[in-house]
Amino acid sequence: GKGEYDHFMLKEIHEQPTALSQALEGRIDTQNGRIALADFDPGTFADIDSVQFIACGTSYHAALYGSLALKQAGVESTALLANEYSVSAPPVDDDTLVVAVTQSGETADTLNALRRAEAEGAMTVTVTNVVGSTAAREADEALFIRAGPEIGVAATKTFSSQAVMLTLLGQRIAADRHGDPPADLDTLLPELAAMPDALDDLLAETDAEAIAERYHNSRSYFFIGRGLGFPVALEGALKFKEITYEHAEGFASGELKHGPLALVTPDTPVFAIFTGQEDEKTLKNAEEAQTRGAPVVAVCPEDHRAVDVADAHLEIPETDADLAGLLANVQLQLVSYYAADLLDRPIDKPRNLAKSVTVE
Ligand code: M6R
Repeated sequence: GKGEYDHFMLKEIHEQPTALSQALEGRIDTQNGRIALADFDPGTFADIDSVQFIACGTSYHAALYGSLALKQAGVESTALLANEYSVSAPPVDDDTLVVAVTQSGETADTLNALRRAEAEGAMTVTVTNVVGSTAAREADEALFIRAGPEIGVAATKTFSSQAVMLTLLGQRIAADRHGDPPADLDTLLPELAAMPDALDDLLAETDAEAIAERYHNSRSYFFIGRGLGFPVALEGALKFKEITYEHAEGFASGELKHGPLALVTPDTPVFAIFTGQEDEKTLKNAEEAQTRGAPVVAVCPEDHRAVDVADAHLEIPETDADLAGLLANVQLQLVSYYAADLLDRPIDKPRNLAKSVTVE
């Protein structure tokens, strides 16, 4: 049941420290500076030339996160919408790894793309939450995120667990590919291990409810981020529209001035996500919106320069640039949740949506 919580969504948001501990259990070896994925012998990915991530919805945002992180680790990769895969897939051969990211393991679009990749000879892995799901049975290998059952239609804890799992997988692929672990793995591993505690702190101190109170009667909601903040901006907006029924859009920070800025008014709050990747540019983009009257909510650590510029602040604990976006995402989940609650929406079961979409 929901226990002390009014909704499954809020319960599942609060389960994230546990979910991440479960995802990481036995998979990182901080002592020896390595990632331990039992299903993959050392060198499994040595011949992989490129990686394609396929997924839909929130899982696509996790896939985009994983793909960007892998590119930063020097491995060619792309994230593709599974429902577009049949018309837009880049070429696949036996040196291509295709990673199907699907919470349920039953999404028709994702299964179709997975089958197509398999038919063309790619090595396939699924990152999923459900043991025994179709994706787990059909992919060459399955990596389970171990998030526990998710009842809310809006995916929350499974996004965080997927993104962490894809970070681990990406680091393993890069290590195999280059013959050595990525140079910054030493700093990343302790921060990964500290994620459950960082999330506990964030959940104990969040101002998301006050921010939702202040802005929930706006006309539109914009989310901007750069680098690993970009998929988080997309996910922030998807969550917001899904459960509040209000208009929300996510943009790459630098795109704001290429069109969306025309929509910006004092009635369109802009949530700016800072991950430590070219933050000064994102801050400039946020200020361009602020100049047009938009309130800016900075999602960043306490001592960040953006705090002085912004109209409001959602704090995230200090962490590695590879992980900051995941903390920011949790603050945005909470803003969506409290805004939807204030608007009296049926949070766990939004209209027109199903937890698992088994038709094309
Ligand atoms: O089970 P899957 O991860 O394959 O589901 C993919 C999407 O249908 C899913 O993430 C959807 O976008 C969620 N309702 C988002 O909250």
